[in-house]
Amino acid sequence: MKLILLALLIAVASAASSLSHKQIRRMNEQVRTLDNRMDFLRNIAKNRPGAKKVLDADTLDGRMDFLRNIAKNRPAGKKVLDADGLDAVSCPNCVEFTEVEIQETLEAHNSARAAVNITVPLTWDNDIATFAANYANQCIGTNILAHNPNRKMSDGRSLGENIYASSGLQNGARAVSSWVNEKSNYDYNSNSCAAGKMCGHYTQVVWAKTIKVGCVRVKCNNIKNKFQVLCDYFPPGNVSTNKVKQKPY
Ligand SMILES: *[C@@H]1O[C@H](CO)[C@@H](O)[C@H](O)[C@H]1NC(C)=O
Ligand SMILES: *[C@@H]1O[C@H](CO)[C@@H](O)[C@H](O)[C@H]1NC(C)=O
Repeated sequence: MKLILLALLIAVASAASSLSHKQIRRMNEQVRTLDNRMDFLRNIAKNRPGAKKVLDADTLDGRMDFLRNIAKNRPAGKKVLDADGLDAVSCPNCVEFTEVEIQETLEAHNSARAAVNITVPLTWDNDIATFAANYANQCIGTNILAHNPNRKMSDGRSLGENIYASSGLQNGARAVSSWVNEKSNYDYNSNSCAAGKMCGHYTQVVWAKTIKVGCVRVKCNNIKNKFQVLCDYFPPGNVSTNKVKQKPY
């Protein structure tokens, strides 16, 4: 058991060169699996009947730190798996999306984009989702989660952000459909929202230059509308050039 674990750890740690998104995603999954296995092992170590202690929880923790250090300190160049990825998401307030919900969230974005003939679909970005989770988990807000004031990732990417709040549990697709409902408030020719109405969430969804999205769902007991869906986007939408708002597409 120890040996298999160690072999797995080394396999993950040494695979950090130039990889495709699919490979990175698979690695992130492996890391999550490893984290689960570590928890599983810790529980066995903690809860087994007294007698001889052959492998304690601290030894296991030490190995995780060892792995994180490898990820943190290896020479720069392309960072395909960062230490944050290894830390996975630390988000006790998250109500994690299922794979199906993630696909439906993407689908909801991409069908709104297709409706205005945008051919470039959004794809899911786990690092963005992790970034979003680490912020949303703090549950800062009163009626609705406040926007993250510092939407810059450690890899230098700046992000756009849409937030949806609800008193009951909702999925990502429902959040997106509320944003897409703002379409009727948006006039393409004048590139503006109807007086007193919102349309900026919609323009982010159909921002043609945006290619990556990562979303998170949290339950915040301190916020009036407890359930929040937050999506972060790269590159951000709603941008201006020389103070003139760009058109989304
Ligand atoms: C999308 O393309 C169709 C077919 O070419 C066209 O009729 C429609 O007006 C286009 N819609 C937008 C929003 O550009
Ligand atoms: C776009 O603008 C709306 C307000 O109009 C804002 O709520 C939303 O967060 C913005 N989205 C991005 C990605 O900047």
